[in-house]
Amino acid sequence: MAVGSGSAYRALYRNVLTRIDPEDAHHWAFTGMRLASRLPIAPGVLRRVFVEDDPRLRTRVLGIDFPSPLGLAAGFDKDGAGVEALSHFGFAFVEVGTVTARAQPGNPKPRLHRLVADRAVVNRMGFNNSGAEAVARRLRQLRAVPPRHRVVVGVNIGKSKVVAEADAAEDYAVSARLLAPYADYLVVNVSSPNTPGLRDLQNVEKLRPVLRAVRGAADAAAHRHVPLLVKIAPDLSDEDVDAVADLAMQEGLDGIVATNTTIAREGLRSAPALVEAAGGGGLSGAPLKRRSLEVLRRLADRAGDSLVLVSVGGVETAADVAERLDAGASLVQAYTAFIYEGPGWARRVLAELAASRSRRETDR
Ligand code: FNR
Repeated sequence: MAVGSGSAYRALYRNVLTRIDPEDAHHWAFTGMRLASRLPIAPGVLRRVFVEDDPRLRTRVLGIDFPSPLGLAAGFDKDGAGVEALSHFGFAFVEVGTVTARAQPGNPKPRLHRLVADRAVVNRMGFNNSGAEAVARRLRQLRAVPPRHRVVVGVNIGKSKVVAEADAAEDYAVSARLLAPYADYLVVNVSSPNTPGLRDLQNVEKLRPVLRAVRGAADAAAHRHVPLLVKIAPDLSDEDVDAVADLAMQEGLDGIVATNTTIAREGLRSAPALVEAAGGGGLSGAPLKRRSLEVLRRLADRAGDSLVLVSVGGVETAADVAERLDAGASLVQAYTAFIYEGPGWARRVLAELAASRSRRETDR
């Protein structure tokens, strides 16, 4: 079986990875990827196996050249520890974070659960990360080395847990000031269900001062315009999705990332006892597909010409990526499908996407 083949990984997943704690599995898989990519010949070899480099996939968005529209969503590389390694596994861009101004340990373990029958994950990590200063140091080092392969780096920032809502704007601004100089784009995350009260910041009157503070701090610190997006929850009502879109346009934001994980648990195939045992937190993966697409369509109707839309939530196949692009997304991200499908996933999806684009061209 080829290294990049899905069946090899699925067998490994079934027989090994599902038998160990999901957070340990993530830790060891990510450590393995980072170590592998440090071997002198590794980047060349890994890229030959895992990267689909096809001119038909290239796209220019937010003033940035992306080798393809498919990126790794926030939460996988919370500390910016493996951005280059991840690019060797086929992602055009990596959204680092969520990073908070203060280092924090996150919620008690266990805090990550698989619902295999649903191709889903429940997480209540709670923004475990080493803090904006440490992440900025790491990203500065990454930028200091002339890149063998340019990786587009988004940085996703959130509120430190100990900071009160009234001080949220300044807390976000601290992170923006430290991280914007090393970010190709910044995302204000107000949609994680795992920091108490965070999602209340999606209310436009609370969000406005946060966005203004971040914008001012980011552009001043980086001495350039740093594209700024806001990441929203799939659990917002349609009216609230419209309200955030209107606010983003009024405030001159560059775009919206939609969506984060959901607190809903409807329509799952997993046994209720398993769902119950997974506990609270955000659900990601296949069950999120429908609502995530619905939110994208709503945003595209409302603001498609004025905002860059990044679609995330339940993306598993090339057809899913194509559907999001057709519905108005300029970029697409995934996380849970990568866990289930393994290191060859991005390449398989992108190869199929490129082929389907060619078929479309010839059909015209
Ligand atoms: C996430 N996600 C996430 N999002 C974010 O903005 N900041 C974060 O720190 C995290 N952390 C995180 C941890 C884990 C374990 C998962 C599975 C997800 C949400 C992620 O970026 C994405 O929005 C959702 O997972 C939906 O996409 P998928 O997973 O269905 O492709």
